Amino acid sequence: MALRNIVTEEDPILHKKSREIEEITPRIVKLIDDMAETMYYDNRGIGIAAVQVGVLRRAFVVDIGDEHGRLNFINPEITSREGEQRCSEGCLSVPGKSGEVMRPQKIHIRALDINGNPFEMDAEGLLADCICHEYDHLDGILFTDRAIPGTIEVVNAEQ
Ligand code: NI
Repeated sequence: MALRNIVTEEDPILHKKSREIEEITPRIVKLIDDMAETMYYDNRGIGIAAVQVGVLRRAFVVDIGDEHGRLNFINPEITSREGEQRCSEGCLSVPGKSGEVMRPQKIHIRALDINGNPFEMDAEGLLADCICHEYDHLDGILFTDRAIPGTIEVVNAEQ
């Protein structure tokens, strides 16, 4: 595994739509492992999408520190959304800022795992928030695009 550079907000790639992964090659597996390592490095993040390391492919990794551990999503599809929650979010690609976003309270998602096996799961609360945030990255949307007006704040100059 290796650390990859994180693309930040000025880069127009973050507003592009990512493409489906047709085949889970060793190169894709390495990409996803590298994304996870980059996310865990220095405890910086709870989710990362491929576009954030400059690769326009529909994959993301999430680990909110709960019993699920690391979850890998390839070609995900959110198939239902229920309820609403107001979430405070940040993003590795938007260092030093936070903002509040309305997200569904509960979702159902289908995807392939890193071995190419289909799986589906329900998620709620923080996990649903994190998955929706990463899912948005696949369509070129940042939390700052969705933030409730007036809620973007500078939180930490060094991140
Ligand atoms: Ni993000």
